[in-house]
Amino acid sequence: MFRLDLEWWPGDPPRYVFTLHNLGPAALAGFALGWSGHGKLDPAVPIENATVLERVSNYNLVAPPEGFVLRPGETWRFVVRGMRLRMRHWTEAASAAFVGPADGVPIAVAVGLCAPEGVMGAPRLGVTRFEGALDDGLALVPWPARVEVEGAVAPVGLCVVDGPAGFETLCAALFADEALLDPGGRVVRLVTADVADEEYRLRFGAEIVLEAAGQAGFFHGLVTLAQVLRGARQDPSCRFPASGVIEDAPRFGWRGVHLDVARQFYALAELERFLAVLAWNKVNRLHLHLTDDEGWRFEVRAYPELTAIGGYRGFGLPVPPLLGSGAAREGGFYTQAELRLLVALAADWQIQIVPEVDVPAHCYAALAALPWLRDADERGAYLSVQDFPNNALNPAVPEVVRFVETVFAELMDVFPGSVVHLGGDEVAAEAWASSPRAQAMGGAKLLQAGLLRRLQAMITGTGRVAGAWDEAAASLLPAGALMFAWQDAAVGPAMAAAGFDVVVAPAQLYYLNMAQDRDWWAPGASWAGCAPVEAVYRFEPASGFAAEDRARLRGVQCCIWSEQLRDRRVFRSLVFPRLSAVAETGWSAAESKDWRRFAAAVALMPVL
Ligand code: ACM
Repeated sequence: MFRLDLEWWPGDPPRYVFTLHNLGPAALAGFALGWSGHGKLDPAVPIENATVLERVSNYNLVAPPEGFVLRPGETWRFVVRGMRLRMRHWTEAASAAFVGPADGVPIAVAVGLCAPEGVMGAPRLGVTRFEGALDDGLALVPWPARVEVEGAVAPVGLCVVDGPAGFETLCAALFADEALLDPGGRVVRLVTADVADEEYRLRFGAEIVLEAAGQAGFFHGLVTLAQVLRGARQDPSCRFPASGVIEDAPRFGWRGVHLDVARQFYALAELERFLAVLAWNKVNRLHLHLTDDEGWRFEVRAYPELTAIGGYRGFGLPVPPLLGSGAAREGGFYTQAELRLLVALAADWQIQIVPEVDVPAHCYAALAALPWLRDADERGAYLSVQDFPNNALNPAVPEVVRFVETVFAELMDVFPGSVVHLGGDEVAAEAWASSPRAQAMGGAKLLQAGLLRRLQAMITGTGRVAGAWDEAAASLLPAGALMFAWQDAAVGPAMAAAGFDVVVAPAQLYYLNMAQDRDWWAPGASWAGCAPVEAVYRFEPASGFAAEDRARLRGVQCCIWSEQLRDRRVFRSLVFPRLSAVAETGWSAAESKDWRRFAAAVALMPVL
């Protein structure tokens, strides 16, 4: 039995103190201690009273001084005086550890919560609630374009005549015990109308008439109606209108949510439930970040090692423990059959899944699985911004081009949507600098542009668009590209001015793993900033865009990066209600947004 206590002294330099306790009956000699968690140590600063045996990004394996024996009841203490980035939140500290006896199976170590000296408290894990008011008596998120309703009638269930099948499964997935649908309830009649694709009109009366052009509009109208019903049932300030109209159409065609399933694995059932939550928010794109340094989650038939090896982390495995995983093998991947079912479910709920395989950087797991993709003559090491060594696929290796094309061919076969995301972010400036083949072919920038252009041509050749993070603008052609502007709010307008279609996702506000405030006990990280719910809600995505470039702004997307999101309570408290704040920004006209109303209405929105 072992316990690891952590202390954090955020001075200059900071002090990160580790104390390993032996609480068991036996002495431990000749051992090593391993841990992982988001915070990364500065490789240039030696650890006091410990020797580093192995380090990959946030995974460390360290040994005590020669001959040290950890006797029962005793402790081993060592001190780190340098971090890559100062820790600011409890979720950045080490969260999993193990001791590896010289000749035995690793033993899990209980890890205590880390707090800076004098900072009292406990992790904040709830969903934040706010004061608000529903002056119209309707609890709707996102708010519709026009609401003119009167009176109130009993909030009985809805009897939808020939409604889209997806609506029934959505109600069952989210609110199975609320009887939102009732064959003996108020009749909702669907009428086809000559309006835009996602637009709808609801006329309240003895019967409700829902007009739309097709499935998407009918589906959104029914979600609105069900939200009205739930509000009338659950909030005394709400009502189910007797008469009047709601007319509605989205501001943007792209209302996205990105989920990083690479850093932490999410079970298929969680993704299904998440899709239902998105549909209730009228989100219409789920961007799945399927691969990264820490895990490869997409089954590729031509390269089974990618998932068999790259999908799992653990002590002694090609991908080590990372981001809170311990010695035991853990992880997972999605088969192509599972993903096809997910795509179909999402389509029923009017959501398109946007798959991302992130190349050429962020490929540590892929290269661990397929080491022959490296240039065997590459000698030096470079580190990515997340401290992964040599993590970029090298386009000068002929097999790499074949590999990437094969992976994207399979990806496009599984995901039929209009956008295929190729990543393209955060290639280290020194990537391939010591690869003789890369140097012979003109250096990093040229190689990278060549690879990404080739992929873009492959994607556009099937009539689709290549999605990419904003750094890839240096490589891609504006025609047939959709840029995800993440680095800050000024990037989107600049990309649009350069001729690119843009989705804005500024990290400072739309990266939902950013903490909501500076408090140590607020979960998340804050390397890009802190994003309070109200600030997220109030962000105006078109600000900074020149009038002539406004048409290139395709929409908004929040990004759920999972580095600190191992605990689902952390996920919930970071994602909600900020996800709904972005959803409303994507759907509702800027002038019809209202923080007080949103704050009240969002309390009825489902969470994960
Ligand atoms: C990113 O945050 N590297 C897209």
